[in-house]
Amino acid sequence: SPAQTDAGLNDERPTAALPGANSTRHAGLAAWVAEIAELTQPDRIHWVDGSDEEYARLTAELVEAGTLVRLNDEKKPNSFWARTDPSDVARVEERTFICSVDEADSGPTNNWMDPAEMKAIMTELYRGSMRGRTMYVIPFCMGPLTADKPMFGVEITDSAYVVASMRIMARIGADVLEKMGSDAPYVPCLHSVGAPLEAGQTDVAWPCNPEKYIVQFPEERMIWSYGSGYGGNSLLGKKCYSLRIASAMARDEGWLAEHMLILKLISPEKKVHYIAAAFPSACGKTNLAMLDPTLEGWEVETLGDDIAWMRFGEDGRLYAVNPEFGLFGVAPGTGWKTNPNAMRTIEKGNSLFTNVALTDDGDVWWEGYSEVPPNHLTDWKGRDWTPDSDELSSHPNSRFCTPIKQCPIIADEYEDPNGVPISAILFGGRRATTVPLVTEARDWAHGVFMGATLSSETTAAAVGQVGVVRRDPMAMLPFIGYDAGDYFNHWITVGKDNDASKLPKIFYVNWFRKDEAGKFVWPGFSENGRVLKWVIERLQGKAAAVETSIGHVPTPDAIDISGLDLSLEALQVALNVDDEEWKAEIPLIEEWFAKIGDKVPAALRVELDTLKQRLGA
Ligand code: GDP
Ligand code: PGA
Ligand code: MN
Repeated sequence: SPAQTDAGLNDERPTAALPGANSTRHAGLAAWVAEIAELTQPDRIHWVDGSDEEYARLTAELVEAGTLVRLNDEKKPNSFWARTDPSDVARVEERTFICSVDEADSGPTNNWMDPAEMKAIMTELYRGSMRGRTMYVIPFCMGPLTADKPMFGVEITDSAYVVASMRIMARIGADVLEKMGSDAPYVPCLHSVGAPLEAGQTDVAWPCNPEKYIVQFPEERMIWSYGSGYGGNSLLGKKCYSLRIASAMARDEGWLAEHMLILKLISPEKKVHYIAAAFPSACGKTNLAMLDPTLEGWEVETLGDDIAWMRFGEDGRLYAVNPEFGLFGVAPGTGWKTNPNAMRTIEKGNSLFTNVALTDDGDVWWEGYSEVPPNHLTDWKGRDWTPDSDELSSHPNSRFCTPIKQCPIIADEYEDPNGVPISAILFGGRRATTVPLVTEARDWAHGVFMGATLSSETTAAAVGQVGVVRRDPMAMLPFIGYDAGDYFNHWITVGKDNDASKLPKIFYVNWFRKDEAGKFVWPGFSENGRVLKWVIERLQGKAAAVETSIGHVPTPDAIDISGLDLSLEALQVALNVDDEEWKAEIPLIEEWFAKIGDKVPAALRVELDTLKQRLGA
């Protein structure tokens, strides 16, 4: 048939003849794009300019293809509803690789394969993988374009959904390409959904491939992703570049690339403090970043909700920049009561909603959006849903993707390429037991120990079992782009190389402790501002604490619970340090250190010994 002949001809067609080829004066980039087009055989190449017209056209095409549904403009202007293939809903840690040249450099916590072997496998997967599709070239910049050294990337993808999402999540398009000039270094990011179309074959609404690879080549600073369209796997500027690749850059250059929100806290006396906080995926970063404090006189402004790049300034303080341009938040649990600022952000529109439910009047809904669900919804699998359905209307890892600048409490400093000086770093996880509401580290090394031994229950943000306690160091377990032991050493070294008096103070928080009935003992969300108040007062030497075996924990009267319907007993449960429970952690920490092996820094072994002594373990 003619169709087959066409497909055959495609293989022979020189890339330079493709519509859209050669659209840059950056010779290195042009050569890479040509090489990838040669390999993947797209029907056409589109250089993404990031304009409104382009976005309108791409989203209209996605609506036509059935990937997106346009929402009611009166509810969510210029916004869309997407449903993925039910198998493509979260990050795939099992399929994520750090392909360093030497296996030892990827360490005991990452999957590894020899880079040459991985490239050979993936090259065969990419061969012809964009046939029948458009190859989009997305120039992007993580962090402000006005930085001394803008952090460029270029993502090649065959997914228009990825283009539309990248436009929200990163600074992309013509301005970036212009700024790259003829020779700026950039991180090449290759993405294919792995679903070529033969001539005449009709597309599915969510093309993807059961075989998935999310691969980082740290020495080459390069990313290859195949088979998935889910944000964490396909928006390569985010976790892949800004954490996995950037953490390797940061190790080499003496800075930190961390899985942290950044917030600005303003006290009633108008004193400003900047706080960074690392919690594992789906453990409260986006919510804390946009906190609406209940405490009189306290205000929060947002700088970032997921990633912080931190460098020491000339004054010796640690400065944080958010490299992202949008919010990719967990939808369920986000509502007017829990996170009104997120609701105000998405209300302004220009957003993509993935795997949530659709209302009959063209709006979105998810568990926690409002107290009373609508009488009828279309669920994330496209089926009818009513309040007496047995299943959730939305996938637990369903997401809103929305421009950060729409956040009503975005801080002015957000665009400052030099970032903001961090006064406190919080590490936190989701633990039903053992870990108190807040603990202050005695010093940097103790704080690094808290981070390095952080534990949390697994969530729906990654494929796999939910609710299993695992060690998640600095909330970076799936994101450290090199050996975890080397990463701990980097944290220790950063502390030693800089003025201790100017280092941020480190705290360990847990909003998720439960009582015997299985209820959260701490109300969380907006009330977490009360914990931030204690943190700031500790920095100022004002708030009371008791020294426990694990660090400084507030005395119950040191936490301001004015106007809060919380009994003193409940607060005591939240703050309780039970040495017996902590003794039970020791073998788990020892097992964890054994897994990390010889590279566990001596300073952290000292911290473990100190903890054991204090516990009498
Ligand atoms: P992120 O992935 O770390 O940004 O986490 P999110 O802020 O999106 O929150 C993940 C889930 O945890 C959502 O369902 C939230 O509603 C819930 N959550 C966030 N903060 C709190 C809190 O303080 N207490 C409780 N109980 N749940 C929270
Ligand atoms: P998050 O990350 O859950 O930390 O917001 C998003 C993802 O990569 O899935
Ligand atoms: Mn988040």
